[in-house]
Amino acid sequence: MAEQVPLDFLGDLRRTHNCGQLRAADAGKRALVMGWVHRRRDLGGIIFIHLRDRFGITQIVFEADIDSAIHAKAEMLRSEFVVAVEGKILLRTADTINPTLDTGEVELFVDKVWILNESRTPPFPMDDADNINEDARLKYRYVDLRRPSVQRNIILRSKVAFAARQELDKMGFLEIETPFMTKSTPEGARDFLVPSRINPGQFYALPQSPQIFKQLLMVAGYEKYFQIVRCFRDEDLRADRQPEFTQIDLEMSFPQQDRIFEVIEPLLVRVFEEAGFKIEAPFPRITHAQAMSSYGIDKPDLRLPPFYQVNDLFPADSGLFTHDLPLVAIHIPKTGQLSRKERDDLRAFGLPMGLRVYDDLKRLDRDFPEAMAKVRERASIADDDLLMLAAWAGEPEGHLPDHTVFKACGQFRLEAARRFNDRHQLLDPKVFKFLWVVDFPMFEWDFEDKRWMAAHHPFTSVLDEDIDKLVNDPARCRAKSYDIVLNGVELGSGSIRIHRRDVQSKVFSALGFSEEEAKRRFGFLLEALEYGAPPHGGIALGLDRLVMILCGLTSIRDVIPFPKTAKGTDLMCEAPSTVPEKNLRDLHISVLGPKPK
Ligand code: AMO
Repeated sequence: MAEQVPLDFLGDLRRTHNCGQLRAADAGKRALVMGWVHRRRDLGGIIFIHLRDRFGITQIVFEADIDSAIHAKAEMLRSEFVVAVEGKILLRTADTINPTLDTGEVELFVDKVWILNESRTPPFPMDDADNINEDARLKYRYVDLRRPSVQRNIILRSKVAFAARQELDKMGFLEIETPFMTKSTPEGARDFLVPSRINPGQFYALPQSPQIFKQLLMVAGYEKYFQIVRCFRDEDLRADRQPEFTQIDLEMSFPQQDRIFEVIEPLLVRVFEEAGFKIEAPFPRITHAQAMSSYGIDKPDLRLPPFYQVNDLFPADSGLFTHDLPLVAIHIPKTGQLSRKERDDLRAFGLPMGLRVYDDLKRLDRDFPEAMAKVRERASIADDDLLMLAAWAGEPEGHLPDHTVFKACGQFRLEAARRFNDRHQLLDPKVFKFLWVVDFPMFEWDFEDKRWMAAHHPFTSVLDEDIDKLVNDPARCRAKSYDIVLNGVELGSGSIRIHRRDVQSKVFSALGFSEEEAKRRFGFLLEALEYGAPPHGGIALGLDRLVMILCGLTSIRDVIPFPKTAKGTDLMCEAPSTVPEKNLRDLHISVLGPKPK
């Protein structure tokens, strides 16, 4: 910093207002405000500064002819200096009113100023520009967090969490904490481990969720538990996944699925209201099987229409589809005519996913006039909708299930919608389409390990009518599990749990766990089921994802105060990091990988 800036003490200075508070009705009064220098305009004899705190911005004015010493001090102020100013509030003239500020009808004419701290030049502009390099934002996160656009997100996050607490409290839920240093939980990701110094060679696992503990709380009689809780998962990161994230987690005793929905729906109505949006409940429901065959994905984005299977409308020898695999009509409303190149590109996008896309409607209409008329009727196609048919390209290898084709169609549909969204505006982030997806399959086949895995987690109940299939036909076993989906994002997930020891054993054996393995991993829960465990069930919503959507954003990093990069690093404090040899020795650990410094 070039010139020496004389700094003042806070002393017993006290604010009369914050920076977002002054209004026309305050004109004529005096005010003392404090904040950061957001923007500064020096017009020679007069200096205008936008003073900012988390409540807003107030324009403060320094005039040389009021007090030259104060004006001289104001000349030293630079971006992000911290100041306290006192002065008189005056109305602005009609032509200088700033409608973009809540305080825009007034300005504060300063007659006392205290410079409380200086600042290095910020690493990026403080206004709401959003093309700032993300690495710089994360390295100087404390500066980034000060930017009004980011503060809005973090403040909304606080309001959402608070509203959720209030609503759950109103519904009779208790907030109960569960341990962070614990044993592996069943969510299926890798655990973060914490070595125990006093138990050499032993490790705690950080919880992937409070799943087991909330079930134990039900056994313990604390029905209606909730917690806004951090979860830890060592998994590949994406825009909507962080290694530590927050859940609004809850569990109830004696519930059916509907009782859980009756809690979540008003909770979300309240939370959205807090963010200024009105949503309608109850939310629609579809089964997992319907979701797959109409949207090709287990988290359908209902802002877009479903696709339709149309094999039945075409002659078997049409040449459009092979081996009875689905022929699918995909349409995106209001896209209008595509150019030749756009159509070619879209077809080329489908091919590596295994799809042959028929986009030449003129030809289809000429060759199959009746069938195409029925396709349009079935899918309610309007003139300016994009319509394409898609089928599996080439020979299927071995047995190809229909849902492989549907999945590819689902991806294709989303990509087509994204590509042309500027024409149809269907993916409007302020339109909120909720959906319950129910009756998930109980198991998923793990092709690598060649065994059945729990689709949700191994404590999930099977549908009463499918209980006999547990052993004989696991592929067709459906679970009492449900997801809540919003605009194509999995917002939350839950299930009715197994509360009987005998059923739990059956599920473990279907999953290929030996009794010993089950006891080693979850023995305490199994034992608890033998001590009067009530029927119970619950759900967890991803708070980060919820706030991300409420803020109209596409990355949860923007709503987490101190997030990690896609590589799981914290660029600001440079974690993870090596530790001194001595710390490792204390923990009885020796590192095989890169040598600690
Ligand atoms: P599940 O594993 O589906 O269920 O997680 C519930 C919700 O948590 C959010 N979520 C994440 N958010 C950000 N980063 C991540 N890495 C991440 N992983 C999950 C999602 C998801 O829908 N114990 C069960 C819940 C239950 O059965 O009650 C569980 O954790 O929004």
